[in-house]
Amino acid sequence: MASYDVVDLIRSKRDGGVLADEEIRWLIDAYTRGDVGDEQMSALAMAIFFRGLDARELPTWTRAMIDTGERLDFSGLSRPTADKHSTGGVGDKITLPLAPLVAACGVAVPQLSGRGLGHTGGTLDKLEAIPGWRAMLSNEEMLAQLEDVGAVICGAGSGLAPADKKLYALRDVTGTVEAIPLIASSIMSKKIAEGTGALVLDVKTGAGAFMKTLDASRELARTMVGLGAAAGVTTVALVTDMSAPLGRSAGNAVEVAESVEVLAGGGPADVVELTLALASEMLAAAAVDADPAAALASGRAMDVWRRMIAAQGGDPDAPLPGARHTETVRAEADGWIASMDAMAVGLAAWRLGAGRARKEDPVQAAAGVTWAASVGERVRAGDVLFTLHTDTPERIERARAALEGAVTISPEPASRGPVVLERID
Ligand code: URA
Repeated sequence: MASYDVVDLIRSKRDGGVLADEEIRWLIDAYTRGDVGDEQMSALAMAIFFRGLDARELPTWTRAMIDTGERLDFSGLSRPTADKHSTGGVGDKITLPLAPLVAACGVAVPQLSGRGLGHTGGTLDKLEAIPGWRAMLSNEEMLAQLEDVGAVICGAGSGLAPADKKLYALRDVTGTVEAIPLIASSIMSKKIAEGTGALVLDVKTGAGAFMKTLDASRELARTMVGLGAAAGVTTVALVTDMSAPLGRSAGNAVEVAESVEVLAGGGPADVVELTLALASEMLAAAAVDADPAAALASGRAMDVWRRMIAAQGGDPDAPLPGARHTETVRAEADGWIASMDAMAVGLAAWRLGAGRARKEDPVQAAAGVTWAASVGERVRAGDVLFTLHTDTPERIERARAALEGAVTISPEPASRGPVVLERID
């Protein structure tokens, strides 16, 4: 591979230039090997933040990141594969009921997930609340479970897109996370390397999301759908509302409990609605004609859940951990809940111990926030609005502070709008 002067490339991007394919391939490879320094890559990431990557640069950048690592191959499985990726929200436990539901309909779901950082929780942290459950599987274990059970939710090994691991950690500490081309290439490089045949993206929008405005969320969704299509992966995105948290729980064990309710045919309406909408998209993208609502109602999705948890060492019948301390926040007025600030709820759950500030921090399985009523529902002064769960009571005061003003109660009836706002393919 030819070699370039990285300072020339940084200057070129800084001044609005377009990088050539060869330059991009060299740069990503040299950065992953350590020949381009973190300080140089941070300068370039900042230049990209301001200047972007054009329609030719972005697929090349994504491809170069994929090529730094291994690619999984599911082509030997007896059924098609589909995966879902969410850009992250508060109370977003959808992966938990969704993966077994789609598997129950005949599509294999290789769901590589992450841990939480900041106010949005991580799927692996939630599932680790189940006694015995193991997040890390070898590629062989993952393939065997996909064939036997049809669904796997596990951590990504270090072999997928190592360039992204390095670059994401760098962006996190240099103020360059919020750049659409960098977010899109980061997410899509991992998803394409994972080898799924079809991909459905849940791009969140609103106060509790990464992208606060519908325009920005739409642009991110379009960019990722374009990258998926360019790589030959059938990709569809739903832009979904994250102004209010999903369901009635944010945390770890509390979200597992709510997911099990959904699999048992109950659960909050918004969680059921989004689970079914994403399942329908995954089945359509995998070209399988099946009715996810019927699979949920018949208990077939619950059967797959139980087998999926047991296959990874978990006991689906074991009681989930409960918090040593709970406290409540009560409504101050009569009326209808007009809004509930997802960011505030996520922050409270995080402060109670459900999330981590640094990658190495442990999380509390039982920590989180639950709420008895959501947007559009009626409450009376003195009703319990939130229950705070934690093992460490000294965390409660700061969680309460996060929830101050998080709910507006209106004297007029209010309603929650649709969860799915737009579909982009
Ligand atoms: N999630 C990712 O994997 N990458 C980003 O850049 C942002 C969110």
